[in-house]
Amino acid sequence: MLNFKHYIPTIVYFGKGQARFIKKELKERGSKKALIVTGSGSVKKNGIFDAVTRELKEARVPFVELDGIVPNPRLSRVYDGIALCRKENVDFILAVGGGSVIDTAKGIAAGVCYDGDVWDFYTHKAQPVQALPLGTVLTLAATGSEMNGNSVVTDEKNERKLAFGSYVVRPVFSILDPEYTYTVDAYNTAAGVVDIMVHVFEQYFSQTPAAEVQDRLAEGLLKVCIQYGKTIVTKPDDYDGRANILWAGSLALNSLIGEGKVQDWSTHAIEHEVSALYDISHGVGLAILSPQWMRQVLSKETAHKFVTYAENVWGIQAGNDPLITAQAAIEKTELFFKSLGIPMRLGELGITDEHFDRMADGAIEAWGGSVGSFKTLTKKDIIEIYQAAL
Ligand code: NZQ
Ligand code: ZN
Repeated sequence: MLNFKHYIPTIVYFGKGQARFIKKELKERGSKKALIVTGSGSVKKNGIFDAVTRELKEARVPFVELDGIVPNPRLSRVYDGIALCRKENVDFILAVGGGSVIDTAKGIAAGVCYDGDVWDFYTHKAQPVQALPLGTVLTLAATGSEMNGNSVVTDEKNERKLAFGSYVVRPVFSILDPEYTYTVDAYNTAAGVVDIMVHVFEQYFSQTPAAEVQDRLAEGLLKVCIQYGKTIVTKPDDYDGRANILWAGSLALNSLIGEGKVQDWSTHAIEHEVSALYDISHGVGLAILSPQWMRQVLSKETAHKFVTYAENVWGIQAGNDPLITAQAAIEKTELFFKSLGIPMRLGELGITDEHFDRMADGAIEAWGGSVGSFKTLTKKDIIEIYQAAL
């Protein structure tokens, strides 16, 4: 295990009715004016927006709104939010939605405190040093954005989907009410479960030896996703299922299971190029690409990790040939994603091989010149993964 600093500053209010703590949080922070960021309308239909704004009214905190944030959120809306915050003297941002809304809010929070172009953070020309405080009311279990410092945004003019990570945009509090996720449809629920699982894979499949605590926690999260994934796709108001997946999503990407390890992130690198160009659901892209990534990196040298995965997550009894055991686990993974109702080929989403070359270059460039560490991927490897997923 490598050295690490562990610091997760987000206060989590988890469970039914926990939105009532918004008032307390805003009062304690002495907020004078808030910006509420929302998506394309789900929170206005299902009553979450009303529940949240009631809290602000009771706390006597006036607010302005930035709505209409779409999945694969756009840079232009981050600019809109920054301008609005400056004009209205906003001192607190409340994101009410899924990862796209929260990531937009993080860009705004950091951008307001920066004199240059906020895109500098995403291109790594600059690091944020300050941000407006941000709270979140999470409505979809997937990204872990409610407890981490990542923001992923697409510059729609240049079709580049890039990320930055910084402690300054970690939410100061997050409301995680499983009932708030009841209205997420089957497709987005399934995509969320996959996203959580692939976040775990990106940290689990690592060359760092003896990070046993992290790996056993990771396996536990994967088993919970397998246990409840299908339940919540078919029975959206299953409280226990929603609660367990919601908490798994936060723990999968809040640093906990990745501390002290060299992490991989290949599947994310190559998926972001797909959703940047074709505007598909991030989790769906991961479901298609992740088994193909596993097949690409499986070798005599890496098989032992897949065998541990096979045994501890899928209960597969290891045979004499580690490669066969590993392949069985990959097969199980793919079949599980399929069982959630996810289209498992890029072609089903209307994607062709037309841009594979450019996408492979984009992934390598976006990730600082090198993709992956469990096994570093060459451009040829990346193109082969895309082709296998067609
Ligand atoms: O926009 P609304 O109307 O809210 O509808 C959304 C959207 O259509 C809907 N939804 C959310 N909560 C709902 C609901 N519908 C009904 N009831 C509810 N309670 O779900 C759809 C998808 O929402 P979105 O926020 O896009 O999904 P998700 O949370 O999966 O976020 C995906 C984005 O996050 C990025 C992805 O690349 C993608 O852009 N990621 C962010 C990460 C991070 N910040 O750490 C890490 C991830 O790996 C990922 O890259
Ligand atoms: Zn993800």
